[in-house]
Amino acid sequence: MADPYPAYARLRDRGAVHRVSTPFGGDAYLITRYAEARAALNDPRLSKHPKNAPAFLREAGLITGDAGPLGVNMLSSDPPDHTRLRRVIGGAFTARRVLALRPRIQRIADDLLAALPEDEEADLIEGFAFPLPITVISEMLGVPVSDRDRFRTWSRALITTSSAPELRRRREAGAAALTGYLSGLVAERRKHMDMELASEAQPDLISALILAADRQGELDEAELLGMLMLLLVAGHETTVNLIGNGTLALLRAPEVLGALVADPGLVPAAVEELLRYDGPVERATLRTAVEDVDVDGVTVPAGSLVVVALACADRDPARFDRPDELDLARRDNQHLAFGYGLHFCLGAPLARLEGTIAFTSLLGRFPGIRLARPPEQLRWCEQSAMMILRGLEALPVILRADPPAPAGAAGRPRTGPTA
Ligand code: HEM
Repeated sequence: MADPYPAYARLRDRGAVHRVSTPFGGDAYLITRYAEARAALNDPRLSKHPKNAPAFLREAGLITGDAGPLGVNMLSSDPPDHTRLRRVIGGAFTARRVLALRPRIQRIADDLLAALPEDEEADLIEGFAFPLPITVISEMLGVPVSDRDRFRTWSRALITTSSAPELRRRREAGAAALTGYLSGLVAERRKHMDMELASEAQPDLISALILAADRQGELDEAELLGMLMLLLVAGHETTVNLIGNGTLALLRAPEVLGALVADPGLVPAAVEELLRYDGPVERATLRTAVEDVDVDGVTVPAGSLVVVALACADRDPARFDRPDELDLARRDNQHLAFGYGLHFCLGAPLARLEGTIAFTSLLGRFPGIRLARPPEQLRWCEQSAMMILRGLEALPVILRADPPAPAGAAGRPRTGPTA
């Protein structure tokens, strides 16, 4: 878990697709090379709808009725439902709408950093990487931020895809608790919303979605709850890892960190490179072939589960020069960290903005940040074999406002154009 990349490199060298066993009593096809990964993410023959998934996933409790662990939502649907669900909410996540949130996100980041202790050990996940995105998405949705520790527990349980009985029980309890909580909020909001008076400009996304469901008939009740659940979970479980994995990568490459401290204008490029280098989503969500699909000469038979290893594809030397190097000057950095095609991350503009503000503010305030423990002692989130996210449990750091010692001659940053 601390470093899956050598194992991925061996698989990728051997082939673009591999038949692998899963802990759920069935096999899957794992796609490891960039070109094939990108094609698979955009292939309409690979369905996202749980109804097409192999029966063993249902038996393992990962699918109930027509829904996956996050209910009925766009990430578990195909066109035309996917198109409709994405359209209902898409307007709230455009680059322009998201940019208007900049001052508020900056304020949240500044307040969190101001509350962290200086010159002593602090957990950057607990104090910064987790509360920043969960506060932002909670405010966007209109969910009380004071409940964030409760969502975290439920959402952690919910994204666990293990079939082990205890984890399955916890996942089901997490899903039930989160659904119950969100339906309570929706019911409460409905009581106070006057549909007649409701205007186009809604105060938050829960109200906008209730309006889309009740007045415009664009969503049914299961879709309304599934949308809220997806946005709440996808809106924070991922960005926490961008900040956590990204900060760790920078702390392990002091010359790159020094270059960013010296020139914060490099942060947006650094965010892209950190997404490629050690992205928050190690493997994309499950897909099922609805007909035979040829992947680099291997037939993936209809009915098979397909898993795209984004983290592996993003280190493919056929696509990226020196892929294991963190290079701020990398050109044409079309990584797959946000997926590709129809299900390309809806929240990408928000995640990019949050990442840019997070790294700029953190390094601006604490340019002398360093790891409080050796990297080998860091704990990564417990994963089952099919779990898709990759992130740290905790990131103990010492926050220092003094600038770091200048990098030695051997540590010159790569900030010039890539050869
Ligand atoms: C750095 C942070 C993030 C990363 C790396 C990330 C990554 C991804 C990836 C890889 C997918 C596609 C999965 C697949 O095709 O199997 C995806 C989809 C999605 N993401 Fe993100 N995400 C991030 C942040 C966010 C945020 C902040 C939101 C905000 C609400 C969000 C909402 C969504 C939604 C709604 C989808 C489903 C899109 C669809 O099915 O059309 N994500 N994300």
